[in-house]
Amino acid sequence: IKKIGVMTSGGDSPGMNAAVRAVVRACVYHNVECYGIYRGFQGMIEGEFELMSARSVKGIINKGGTILKSARSKEFMTYEGRKKAYEELKKNDIDAIVVIGGDGSFTGAMIFSDEFNFPVMGIPGTIDNDIFGTSHTLGYDTACNTVVEVIDKIRDTASSHDRLFFIEVMGRDAGHIALNVGVGAGAEEILIPEEDLGLDRLLESLRRSKRSGKTSSIVIVAEGDKIGKNVFELKDYVEENLGEYEVRVSVLGHMQRGGSPSCFDRVLASRMGVKAVESLLEGKNKFMVGLLSDQMALTPLEKAIKGQSKIDLELLRVSDILTV
Ligand code: F6P
Repeated sequence: IKKIGVMTSGGDSPGMNAAVRAVVRACVYHNVECYGIYRGFQGMIEGEFELMSARSVKGIINKGGTILKSARSKEFMTYEGRKKAYEELKKNDIDAIVVIGGDGSFTGAMIFSDEFNFPVMGIPGTIDNDIFGTSHTLGYDTACNTVVEVIDKIRDTASSHDRLFFIEVMGRDAGHIALNVGVGAGAEEILIPEEDLGLDRLLESLRRSKRSGKTSSIVIVAEGDKIGKNVFELKDYVEENLGEYEVRVSVLGHMQRGGSPSCFDRVLASRMGVKAVESLLEGKNKFMVGLLSDQMALTPLEKAIKGQSKIDLELLRVSDILTV
């Protein structure tokens, strides 16, 4: 392998830049040329490549977003699109790629690798932490820290006004952020996509918190929570069924995806970038680099895509105990 391409794909996450930097510099260290591929698979189809040097990734380890930009490509879902991408890579003599993204990006990468016998390596980058084969995805730690900081601020005003707040956090299909920030910020209840905890439980726990002398409360709701009501519907429901609360809603949205990565995410990105390049140079193909028991570990891409990232339901129990 003489030339490696690197791209970021799907929803961005803090730490992607640190991973790009690590891939580029590991390539330079091992005397391999590294090409930045802009706008994910779409840029690959359109031949948006740029030769990177160790200096072209200076000053980005601390930056949120991705300098390579990210996109979701419809064209890459077709065989014709993927063939165009392959031809562009061949034209530039790029003989392997590192894809930094989530499971959708990995699926595209795997199909591409199978069709054109092209070496690929995945680095999990998503704030949702919903990928099998790694305890942490890039950006998850930063997103949790961002959210906890915001909840602390909301708590200030919630307690001044004796209000109940429903705070919606990201996680269309996964409750990792909700569960962790719920415990980390001391929320009263946490609603997640993996479990339907039921509206009765919600009402009961709010009643209990009133009885125990609490004057304000915070409920964390993951975007895709199983109860099937959005935060605004939950507000109405609680107001109708528990008259005593004055309720407000806060939807945190895309601010959770931005910002300077935490030290944890920067170190994780650096380790993953080096591991991805060295694994390709060792002849490995169709793997994802992950963190397991604090060590870098490779998981076949197919397993990373199909496996279920396990949510730690013990955290719900911890939360229940601590909201007594
Ligand atoms: O990055 C994953 C994610 O943050 C989900 O939790 C969320 O539902 C989705 O991205 C939002 O994506 P978009 O930016 O396309 O609206």
